Amino acid sequence: MRPIARANVPPMEPVLFERRDAVALLTLNRPQALNALDVATLETLEARIGEVAGDAGARALVLTGEGRAFAAGADIAAMRAFSAAQAGEFSRLGHRAFAALEALAIPTIAAVNGYALGGGCELALACDWIYASARARFGQPEVNLGIVPGFGGTSRLVRRVGVAWAKEIVLAGEPIDAEVALRIGLANRVFAPEELLPAALAAGGAIAAKGPLAVAAAKRVIQHGQDADSRVAHALEQEAFAAAFASEDRAEGMAAFLEKRAPVFKGR
Ligand code: COA
Repeated sequence: MRPIARANVPPMEPVLFERRDAVALLTLNRPQALNALDVATLETLEARIGEVAGDAGARALVLTGEGRAFAAGADIAAMRAFSAAQAGEFSRLGHRAFAALEALAIPTIAAVNGYALGGGCELALACDWIYASARARFGQPEVNLGIVPGFGGTSRLVRRVGVAWAKEIVLAGEPIDAEVALRIGLANRVFAPEELLPAALAAGGAIAAKGPLAVAAAKRVIQHGQDADSRVAHALEQEAFAAAFASEDRAEGMAAFLEKRAPVFKGR
């Protein structure tokens, strides 16, 4: 049998983007390396997030991993030879990609199917909330390698679970299971492995029936309000509440309720 020429084998796409009805689905696709995040994967992720941002039909995003990991962290083999300057560049790339994910107007759900370690845990934290498989393992094991989290873990983990748990997870460097993640508020819900993706897609699909302007405004106010003092946060909410009344969707939503029918939102 003639060997297949290497050039005919298409390179594996490190991040897959598909639409499941109104839900955008991004899948990390380096299962042979437990979806470890190297430069190509992070750059592709950033590009795919840009595509999702430009897809007017996508009303929620689900992010998951192919195989037995969500992502087992930054790619250690690639990082091994990094100088401090290269490491800084790599950290900025990860931060940029995860900030783009966090800034998406639509709700984002991390469907953590397995290991979410290091950069994988930080990626899940850049999503609005996390659904976990009962098989999921979360952790920031960087100290085991002599480094610190580099893709936003120190700040996003503190905000999600509080400073004491964040310190234990980062400083002890030991993984936690899905039940502990649920208990400390890192994961919102835990599912049997085969139920995880359907549940995440269903949650995203349910959001597609809501007023998209209102969903985006509420997300924005929560995020900006979290970074502000309470007076500014309250003012942001008052402005968003008033602005919603100028939308056609608001008129439709209230009319539909009073007329006992389902609303038809147009995002205007
Ligand atoms: N970077 C690069 N490659 C990684 C990786 C990472 N972060 N995590 C796993 N891999 C690779 C392994 O090197 C292995 O490759 P190989 O088959 O070519 O040897 C493959 O993925 C499978 O991993 P393996 O370690 O054999 O699986 P396991 O089930 O025994 O262990 C983990 C799974 C997640 C516990 C283990 O892979 C691990 O500890 N990974 C590193 C986690 C980490 O420290 N992340 C933070 C990085 S900053």
